[in-house]
Amino acid sequence: IFSRAEDASEYLANHIIDKINEFNPSALKPFVLGLPTGSSPEGVYAKLIEANRQGKVSFQNVVTFNMDEYIGLSPSHNQSYHYFMYDKFFNHIDIPRQNIHILNGLSKDIEAECANYEAKIKSFGRINLFMGGLGPEGHLAFNEAGSKRESRTRKVELVKSTIKANSRFFSNDESKVPKYALSVGISTILDNSDEIVLIVLGELKKFALDKTIWGTKNDSNYPSLYLQDHSNVLIVCDHSAAGLK
Ligand code: GLP
Repeated sequence: IFSRAEDASEYLANHIIDKINEFNPSALKPFVLGLPTGSSPEGVYAKLIEANRQGKVSFQNVVTFNMDEYIGLSPSHNQSYHYFMYDKFFNHIDIPRQNIHILNGLSKDIEAECANYEAKIKSFGRINLFMGGLGPEGHLAFNEAGSKRESRTRKVELVKSTIKANSRFFSNDESKVPKYALSVGISTILDNSDEIVLIVLGELKKFALDKTIWGTKNDSNYPSLYLQDHSNVLIVCDHSAAGLK
């Protein structure tokens, strides 16, 4: 728990850098990193970019999988998660383009798109580290309330509160927010990842964070509760998210 969001971001960025650097670079397998969008991880991305510029970390041997993408937005749409990731992170680091994986929200065959994504993740073996954010109602990626523990990558319908929360990126117009998205499932995250890290910032996340840690296990109204099932989860948050003044 950090008093300032910036310090929380720096701590998590350094943690990720350490994990990448500790990983044997001569290994045949690349370091596999799961990534989120949202405003919370932006500070982490900024710190990772800075460290990459300073030569403290390289992404040459890193493969990434993003958590989710809106259905119906093209990669060039400035609110697509594809655009966000390139704009905030990938365009500024030394990662080979072929190492980046993001679900295609324009795919004509959603089922195949999701199945291929799962297969691609599997083809790399384990995800070394999955970073996530937390929705105000406890969603993880776009796994909304009611998502099953065994869920895999699929099409999801966004709930009203998510559409409302995300409308801030669509000129506060809820009608412009896509109603559906593609998202990795709870099982995709939990069962494939050696480590899960969450960045949780701001007072709006207080309730969800409290639930995540103290809620009754397997209450599917709060998908982040499933994290209690995993043996290696690190939550990095600021004072407001932790309910400390
Ligand atoms: C979106 C994303 C989530 C993210 C959440 C919180 O709904 N699909 O992956 O965790 O927003 O975003 P923010 O960090 O901006 O509050």
